[in-house]
Parts: sequence; C-alpha cells; structure tokens
Amino acid sequence: MNNVIIGQSGGPTAAINASVAGAYVKAKELGANKVFGMIHGIEGLLQGEFIDLDKYLSDPTNVELLKRTPASVLGTCRYKLPEASVDNSVYKQIFEILDKYNIDSFFYIGGNDSMDTIMKLSDYSSSHGYDKQFIGIPKTIDNDLPITDHCPGFGSSAKYIATSVKELIRDNQASDPRNPAIVIVEIMGRNAGWLAAAASLCTSDDCSGPDAIYLPEIPFDMDDFMNYAKELSKGHKPALIVISEGIKLADGRYVCELNGNVETDTFGHKQMSAASRVLADKLTNELGLRTRTVELSTLQRSAAHTSSLTDVKEAYQCGVQAVIAANEKKTGKMVIMKRMMENTADYPYICVYDTYDIHAIANFEKKVPVEWITDNKRGLTQSFEHYARPLICGEVMPIMSGGLPRHLIIPEAL
Ligand code: F6P
Repeated sequence: MNNVIIGQSGGPTAAINASVAGAYVKAKELGANKVFGMIHGIEGLLQGEFIDLDKYLSDPTNVELLKRTPASVLGTCRYKLPEASVDNSVYKQIFEILDKYNIDSFFYIGGNDSMDTIMKLSDYSSSHGYDKQFIGIPKTIDNDLPITDHCPGFGSSAKYIATSVKELIRDNQASDPRNPAIVIVEIMGRNAGWLAAAASLCTSDDCSGPDAIYLPEIPFDMDDFMNYAKELSKGHKPALIVISEGIKLADGRYVCELNGNVETDTFGHKQMSAASRVLADKLTNELGLRTRTVELSTLQRSAAHTSSLTDVKEAYQCGVQAVIAANEKKTGKMVIMKRMMENTADYPYICVYDTYDIHAIANFEKKVPVEWITDNKRGLTQSFEHYARPLICGEVMPIMSGGLPRHLIIPEAL
C-alpha cells in the first residue's frame, strides 16, 4: 500500500477511535509506509494539519489504550464540501496535498454528513482521472445510516442510555411517595429514535422500565402526552418518561423549538436541546406536577466506561475492512455490516462485513421501523429488543490508573 490518511468527522462516539486503531493496524500490516491522521477532519487537512500516526500508535499498548478512549482522538469537524461544479478550489487543494504526500487511500469515519464528503471526493477523483481510493467508515450514535444493519457507536451509547435510565428509575422510585415527580429524560438522535428506543432495554425482572418512550418517527401528540402524564400522576407514584430530542409536532415543528429559535449547523441540522424542559414546564404550569429533567447530552456519546464490547470490536473491524477495500482498489464505498443469523429469544448474532456504493448512503437517514413501535405509540415491541440487545452485549475493561480510566491523547488535536 502507498501512504494513507484517516480522518474523523461529525459527533464523537465511545467507539470511533477503535476504527482509527483498526485502520492503522491493517494499513501497516499491508505495507503502508505512512498512515497520516487528519487533525479535526477535512477542515484541518485544508489547513495542512495532519500527523504521522506512528508517533502515537507504533506502540501496541497505545493501540489498546486508543480502543478504550472515547471521543475523536484526532479531533472532529462538521464541514460541508461545496459542490465541485460550483467551487472546485478546495478539491484542488485536497488533491494537491494527497499527491504531495503520496497518499492513495483516504478514510473518513463518520455519519451521513461525513459520507457526503466521501461521495464528493470519490466522484471528483474518478471524474479527474485520479487513481485514489475514498472509503467511508460508518460511525454514529444516532444509528441512522442506511444499508448497514447498524452503526458503530450506537451499541455503546445504547448500553449507556439503558444503564443510566435504569439507575434513574431506581433513584426516582426511592423518592418520597408523598411527593412524587415525573422525570423526563432527553436522549440524542436527531430525526431517528434508535437511541431513545434503547432506553426500553432496561426493562427486566428488576426494573419496570420507562413509563413511556416518545420517538420522532411518530408525530408527537401534546394532548395525549398531557393526558397520559395526568393519568400517571393520579397513581401518586414516581414516573419516568423518555423523549427523543427530535420529537416533532404534526405541523413539523420540533418540540424543542417551542421555547424559541434554535441554531442551525453547516449541514442545515437544527441544534436540538431542551425539549424536555418545554414539556416539564407545561406539566408544572398547566397541571401543577412536580418534574425533573435529565438531558444525557454528550455523556451518552462520551461514556466509555460502559462501552459495549460488541460495538468496540465491530468499530475496529470496520477500520480493518475499509483498508482491505482500498487495497482491493475499491472507491466511493462505505463499509457496511450485515446480520447473518435470525434472532431468537437468546439473541444469537453474527455480523459480517461488506462495502456498498456511497451514493445510496450519503445524506439518507434510516429511522426506527414504525412496526417496532407499540400501538399506544409510547413503547417498543420485542422486534426492537431482538435487534438491539446483541449490540450492547459484552464489556470493555478500561485501563485504570489512580482509580480512573486512562485515555490516549494526541496533543496536536487539543
Ligand atoms: O450526530 C450525532 C449527534 O450526537 C446527534 O445525536 C446530536 O443531535 C448531534 O450530534 C449534536 O451535535 P453537536 O455535537 O454538534 O451539538
């Protein structure tokens, strides 16, 4: 292999660094002389900011540490490439850097928006006669990339969410029964409810689970929500409701927008936050109920102490498979995962890898199938559990030091 470069982009996850580790190790194994890492993704690359990963990863202990380090070790960005037909100057700049450093393979680890970058660069490369490979490595806690069965990052986030919701239910159930509260837990996921749905996984013989889970796949019915909360309060028992940050009213407005305007990023995504506050204020002001809100916020994507072993192993393998694909001269593809076994009550599960045309993936979102949502629209069916349970299984032991997990840091990215 000639030299290769790896970048991370979009929201971090607890498993994204395992993909860097997998790609680095495989590229070295296949003879790559240099494995470069972009600092803060393509935005850094355009500023000439990238490093030789040997500096940090030639020591196998650091590779192990990297697999256990949450968030994007190389730094991330949310940068949208212009259409080459409108402005090709950044493309020229990128290909000049790739040529200058003899880089033939370009790997980008990310979600829908990052796959837009792979699509545009591979299209530019092919139409300008370059012999270079552009491969996407899937990553998103939102689990909303199409074609692939699931996305690295989701399993660890889902495990953290189910664990935290279980602990929050424990806490709430211990509260004074003469003064019960309705706790509203807000979960990330944008327009897809996979992560909020994961809260249902805590339901078991030692946990009654959330009283309701509201996903963005179904228009949010405010009247039904208020009536249901009223019903719950009549029981004089503590209750816990999970909502996805992206729940929307039938008229298209996000619930989080009801308290005022929200900002938009370069890809046109609304920065969602505080839908739980909107709902809690309504319950207090209109029904006089005691409420508490919990936004898991960035904890749900940075918590590596509850990482799923399945997830971390798969993220590593996605990095490996991307390098194999590039070595086979594939380009304009994303690594995908396929589930090979039918799920049964015991959740046997085998995942195999392939690659798929990036044009069918970039900028598309995969939602929770509505058939997996219960008829009362406040819960998940067994089909969801069969899908998600294997993805949260297995534990990754952090490497501890002084009572806390140790992480690998790359000072150039700080
Ligand atoms: O795409 C992953 C994600 O974590 C979403 O779930 C969330 O809405 C968004 O990123 C938050 O983005 P930022 O970190 O830019 O606030």
